[in-house]
Order: sequence, then C-alpha cells, then structure tokens
Amino acid sequence: MKIGCVQLSEVRSYRALTLHPAPLLNILVGPNAQGKTNLLEALGLLVTGRSFRTPRISEVPRWGAETAAITGELMRTEAGVESRRVVRRVVTHAGDGSWQATGDGAPEWARAIAFGWQDVEIVNGAPGTRRGFVDGFAGRLYPTHLATLVRYRQILARRNRVLQMHRHDAGLAGRLEPWSEQLATTGVELIARRRKAVAALQTELARVWGSLAAPRSKVEVRYRGALGEADEPAAFVAALARAHREEVRRGQTLVGPHRDDLSIEIDGVDARTFGSRGQQRMVALALRLAEVLPVTEAAGTAPVLLLDDALSELDPRARELILREIGAAEQVFLTTPEPLAEAGAAVFHVNGGGVTAG
Ligand SMILES: Nc1ncnc2c1ncn2[C@@H]1O[C@H](COP(=O)(O)OP(=O)(O)OP(=O)(O)O)[C@@H](O)[C@H]1O
Ligand SMILES: [Mg+2]
Repeated sequence: MKIGCVQLSEVRSYRALTLHPAPLLNILVGPNAQGKTNLLEALGLLVTGRSFRTPRISEVPRWGAETAAITGELMRTEAGVESRRVVRRVVTHAGDGSWQATGDGAPEWARAIAFGWQDVEIVNGAPGTRRGFVDGFAGRLYPTHLATLVRYRQILARRNRVLQMHRHDAGLAGRLEPWSEQLATTGVELIARRRKAVAALQTELARVWGSLAAPRSKVEVRYRGALGEADEPAAFVAALARAHREEVRRGQTLVGPHRDDLSIEIDGVDARTFGSRGQQRMVALALRLAEVLPVTEAAGTAPVLLLDDALSELDPRARELILREIGAAEQVFLTTPEPLAEAGAAVFHVNGGGVTAG
C-alpha cells in the first residue's frame, strides 16, 4: 500500500502542511527538532489510528489548538486494479475535557510498521517491552489479537482483585475458579497467536540478518512462557494451581501471557546482556524489517515503513546494507539529520514546521 497526498492541520509542530510523497523511498532530512519525527508520527496515525510515539493522544494536537486533523489518501493495487480511500483522523476534545481520536474510511488492509530509537529497548529493555512488540506485530497479522489482549487484561484484573480481597477466605479456590478458566481460555488464544507470530518472524529475521550482518552470524528470537509447549487451557489451569500458594502470598496472578517474554540471541548469546549497542540497534531494526513480509502476506498488501533515524549510530557498511534491504520494500519514509544520497529517492527538507521537496 501507499500513502498519496496528505494534509495535516494543527498536528504537533505543523500548523498546516500538504505533502505529496513518492511511491517508494522518501527521505525526510533536516536538523534536530524540526519536525521529522512529528511528520512520521502523523503518517502512522493516518494509517493506523494510533501514535507509535505515545499512548497519550492529547500530545498530538499543536500546543494550544483545539483540534488536530490528518487527511490522506491510502492506495493499494490488487491484481492490477488500484483502489483508493480517503481517510480522515481527528483528535479533539471530548465533552468531559479528555482528548479523543476519531477516524473514518480506514481500509482493513492499511498497515504501517514504525521503527524508532526507542525500539532498542525491545532488545535491551524489560520483558514488558518485548511483550508489547510481539503483541503489536501479532495485531498487524491477526486483527482480533488486540481485542483479545484487552479482554485478557480485564479478566486478569478481576482475578487479581479476587486474590487480593479474599486471600484469607476459606472459599478462595471456589471464587477463583471461574476467573482461572476464563483467563486460561483467553490466555492460550493469545499465546498461540504470539507463538505463530514469533515463528513467522524468526524465518524472516534469519533472512534479514543474513543480509545485514557478518556472514555466518545468526540471530534467534524465541517465545518464552511458563507453559512451555503446552497449548491447552487445562495446562494453564494446572499451572495456576501449582502457583496457588505463591499467588495467595503475593496477591497476584503469576502465570500467563502477561508474564511471558522473548529471548533474543546473537550467535547463541543473550543480545540483551552481551550485544554491543550497535548490534542491539541493528537487531531491533532487523526485527522491524522482518515484520514486513508476514504483514504483507496477512494484509494482502505491503505495509508502509516509517523509519525514524534508522541509520544513526551504524557504520557506513551497515547503512549501505540497510538501504539495500529497504529498497525491496514498497513505500518507505526515512528520517535523517544528515543529507543522504540515494538514487531514486524523493528528498524532503524538513525545517521549522515546513517541508519542501527537492
Ligand atoms: N504538540 C506539539 N505542539 C507543538 N509543537 C510540538 C508538539 N510536540 C512537539 N513539538 C515540537 O516539535 C519539536 C520536535 O519535533 P520532532 O521530534 O519531529 O523533531 P525531529 O526533526 O525529529 O528532531 P530530531 O532530529 O532531534 O529527532 C519539538 O522541539 C517540540 O518543540
Ligand atoms: Mg526525531
């Protein structure tokens, strides 16, 4: 898929902007703090309805503005036939003073994959960041995944409440039982999708890493969960039963996808502990690039890539290899503080809330 003409109104540092991106590589170049990431964020919001930068949508409208709007054309070609949709996303004050994002016209095939400097935390950060990564990816593959995740969290919160409020009651086990069953049914669904997602990711990751890193170097990503290979709700319930005493002591649910993690290894050693900073950044970028093919297959069209400062801190050879790898993608937006000569790319200069082509 591709983004056609886009208009921003009162978004972040942009008062009003019209952009005509090219169908393949778009390089957004400009000094620091000029609005490059702001523009990528807006493009992501157009496609997905969310900001990849913040869960707080109230940060998106320009300071002092009452409403922010992003309007743009999304296109895809299927069997030689092009379809176009105009999508409009608006962030505005709700009646109660909170901010709300609304949107219409978003086609179900619209997908964007964003990479930013914070993604290095997928490799070297806490387990929650890796869970967030795998859930985001699984959500791009299986659109119901995020709704299942929300349901799981609701059940988990209720089960935790029962554990906290009735931990000393004789009837605790009976009270917990229905919640344990619901948690198990929803939990195994989540785990199964995450495992499928990780398997698809690993296949592509091996290929991407092969073209980015030293020959014979290997990266492996694996799903790590308390249930091991088991995929039945009964196994989940049994694991909860085994953890019962500890759960009562701590007043919280200790088994389930909310505690699982990914292991990421470079040449057999933990990338989190032993990877160099450059390697960790490279793995994080390779993970995002490895999403592209599975997402393309799931959505029926290639996602838009939003790569924020993806080349910084990397050596010249790594940069060259990455440029070659993204050359195989469809539409890409790549920000950079330094000019970058890349044949065939459209260049946009971002400066003080304005963008000029050329
Ligand atoms: N809601 C907002 N309203 C107005 N201005 C904002 C808002 N949010 C951020 N900004 C401004 O946007 C500027 C940063 O823009 P952005 O993060 O896009 O810079 P950048 O070009 O990506 O810079 P760098 O190269 O350092 O990453 C900030 O300096 C801030 O002043
Ligand atoms: Mg930036």
